[in-house]
Amino acid sequence: MEEKLEGILTRYRENEGNLISILQDIESEFGYLREDAINWVSERLDVPPAKFYGIATFYAQFHLKPRGKNVITACCGTACHVKGSERLINSLVKELAIPEGEETSEDLQFTVEKVNCVGACSIAPVIIVNKIVHGKMTPDKLMKEMKTLKEGKREYTDYI
Ligand code: FES
Repeated sequence: MEEKLEGILTRYRENEGNLISILQDIESEFGYLREDAINWVSERLDVPPAKFYGIATFYAQFHLKPRGKNVITACCGTACHVKGSERLINSLVKELAIPEGEETSEDLQFTVEKVNCVGACSIAPVIIVNKIVHGKMTPDKLMKEMKTLKEGKREYTDYI
């Protein structure tokens, strides 16, 4: 970990970066903002950890908990809500065995996150699977997609 963080700090110093860029690099390197990484960087730069957490909790792009290999983003905006997004989300959480109150399965295979309107209301309800937008989603289509992911017939890298 320290070697990776040293690299991040070197880039930060060479490019006159800011704390946001450090957090982005940590998130990109580890998949989320590890507490030990924040503490390490905080000590090295003599910047209180609270300053990093203040930024991290302000921007939705940062995550303080590990995320799943597959990220399913469910739109909960008004149009999607009216078209049944809540039912889709409930079935997702059940199918992927996401513990109550959590976003990520214990095996770190799946994260289900809820977001506000993603700007595609005409094709509501919208579910984004590993950055690919699926409009007019139905429970059947969604379960088929999840089955494909679970069986490993489609990998995360197939999406990017
Ligand atoms: S409410 Fe879901 S895309 Fe707008």
